[in-house]
Amino acid sequence: MYTFAYCSLVVVCFGSISADVNSDSGYNFLVIVTDDQDIMLNGMFTTSPICCPSRSSILTGKYAHNHQTKNNSRSGGCYGRVWRETIEPAALPVWLSQAGYDTFFAGKYLNEYFSASIPPGWSQWFGLHGNSRYYNFTVTENGKVATYTNEYFTDYLDTKTVNFLKNLRADRHFFAMVTPPAPHAPFTPADRHKDLFPNVKAIQTPNFNISSSPLRNIDGSGTRQFVLKILIRLF
Ligand SMILES: *[C@@H]1O[C@H](CO)[C@@H](O)[C@H](O)[C@H]1NC(C)=O
Ligand SMILES: *[C@@H]1O[C@H](CO)[C@@H](O)[C@H](O)[C@H]1NC(C)=O
Ligand SMILES: *[C@@H]1O[C@H](CO)[C@@H](O)[C@H](O)[C@H]1NC(C)=O
Repeated sequence: MYTFAYCSLVVVCFGSISADVNSDSGYNFLVIVTDDQDIMLNGMFTTSPICCPSRSSILTGKYAHNHQTKNNSRSGGCYGRVWRETIEPAALPVWLSQAGYDTFFAGKYLNEYFSASIPPGWSQWFGLHGNSRYYNFTVTENGKVATYTNEYFTDYLDTKTVNFLKNLRADRHFFAMVTPPAPHAPFTPADRHKDLFPNVKAIQTPNFNISSSPLRNIDGSGTRQFVLKILIRLF
């Protein structure tokens, strides 16, 4: 198991050699990306510790100055024209699909994704529209837009993912990427969990709430995220 920290995003990747597939070379992947864990993992590095640029790096293997997603806005490249026309058509799911993989995505994609189209390379697609939410969400389900009011999004992702994993094709490898918004704000618990911990307060390490808006002050005042202070000057 490999664990990579993208500062605000934490990626847990399970890779296993499949015994089922005729050729015994190749791996299956289940990648789970959690959002805003605000934890520090020793010996781990982030390319750019902010949501959309980080997600873009995970999907392309490129640094932000190459995939050109600089912040979480359309104007900063988040699901912008360059991404859609140049970067996305030659990203990880496309390479994997060309290599014969079944590719599955469920969850939050890029913060500015509000589209009925399925990004290239995915065999199955359940992409959340916009940023993190838990109830009352809109998703593009394999090209069809649907809105759910009372379903809890983490449960929705669970159902779709387990369904995919239960129906794997024996003759193909798979890459599944599951990206729940949890535990990103607004921290809405599932109804069945909301009264479970009435007197418990979350532990707050010195990392807690270092800056709620690290990009707001270009001179770096108000943020201790020194990597961002340097990166912003490069753009
Ligand atoms: C995102 O980046 C673009 C291009 O550099 C800039 O115009 C925009 O103000 C930035 N948005 C935020 C919220 O920082
Ligand atoms: C659901 O979200 C839409 C916009 O995304 C909003 O207009 C509506 O009020 C929300 N409904 C509930 C029950 O929260
Ligand atoms: C986080 O910090 C900002 C100011 O930097 C403050 O306005 C906000 O209330 C803080 N949030 C929490 C949950 O402490």
